[in-house]
Amino acid sequence: MSKKSIYILGIESSCDDTSAAVLCNGKVLSNVVANQEIHAAYGGVVPELASRAHQQNIIPVVQQAIQRANIDKNQLKAIAFTQGPGLMGSLLVGASFAKSFSLGLGIPLIGINHMQAHILAHFIDDENQQKPPFPFLCLTISGGHTQIVKVTDYFSMEVLGETLDDAVGEAFDKSGKILGLDYPAGPLIDKYAQLGNPKAYQFTKPRVGKLEFSFSGLKTGILRFIQKGVAENPDFIKENLHDICASIQETIVQILMDKLKNAVKETNIRHIAIAGGVSANSEIRKVLKQAEKNLGWKTYIPKFEYTTDNAAMIAVAGYLSYQKGVFSSVAVTSSARMKVDE
Ligand code: KG4
Ligand code: ZN
Repeated sequence: MSKKSIYILGIESSCDDTSAAVLCNGKVLSNVVANQEIHAAYGGVVPELASRAHQQNIIPVVQQAIQRANIDKNQLKAIAFTQGPGLMGSLLVGASFAKSFSLGLGIPLIGINHMQAHILAHFIDDENQQKPPFPFLCLTISGGHTQIVKVTDYFSMEVLGETLDDAVGEAFDKSGKILGLDYPAGPLIDKYAQLGNPKAYQFTKPRVGKLEFSFSGLKTGILRFIQKGVAENPDFIKENLHDICASIQETIVQILMDKLKNAVKETNIRHIAIAGGVSANSEIRKVLKQAEKNLGWKTYIPKFEYTTDNAAMIAVAGYLSYQKGVFSSVAVTSSARMKVDE
């Protein structure tokens, strides 16, 4: 009756969140995330400050994750950490800590691709989350990436299309900056959009390939529109903030949905998942749910805590790798650039 308990520690430090999680057989026992508030004052992530904050946070965050999981560190079977992509200084902190801890405990080390982990968050064992069957399409939308990925197995992924310039998270954050909102502006635009009219203003959508994205033109369009509005009325932003946010969000979500429809047409795959920080957006979640009825898709929407950067997704990827018997050597190196299909 007793199934072996495989405890995996996951460590995530690719950007500005220090996170550690403990999973038992794919179930989350703890998932601690320390956000770095310091970057808000600079309107974006400052790499050197991020590395330093990781150094401060990593040991307490890991200690908390083990404590909250209510296990002893000697029960851990392996340590998974983010190998890349991300900011090099941030990645090095997580990798070096993971190496030392795994050597100290005498357990294996598993280097994880952060982009794969965002997608593999769907395989966390959670009664409120359904696991997608293979093959499925995943729209990975974050502060650094925007891509449609065909997933044929846990570690077998192919990018069907991606952004030619800015990521969709940047489109949210840079639009927010134009509006004078704090970084990261994505969640704020989402919040204000709930109170606004999404049809109030129109923005031009980019003309790129069927499965490609581009957001730099949209950003320029929004900047010009705001400059013109403010020139006519200095209180333009304040008076229309909700409508502006709703219209920006509507345009972005429409762009994402148009591309997803194209990908479904091309692949005939109707199991659609979303992943990454921007998948926390309430409008994209709502529109995808509606697509189940309107378009006959089956959609997979992760729980909020597994959308933005977190270590539970790194740990579940580690658990799947552990089951396959795939481990990293102690000589494994961090990689700032790493593709989802590597
Ligand atoms: O995946 P993530 O936490 O970090 C990266 O790997 O980039 O994604 C962060 C991005 C930020 O651009 C943030 O503004 C955006 O996700 N984001 C949102 C929402 N929550 C986070 N964008 C729109 N709506 C949200 N609710
Ligand atoms: Zn991420």
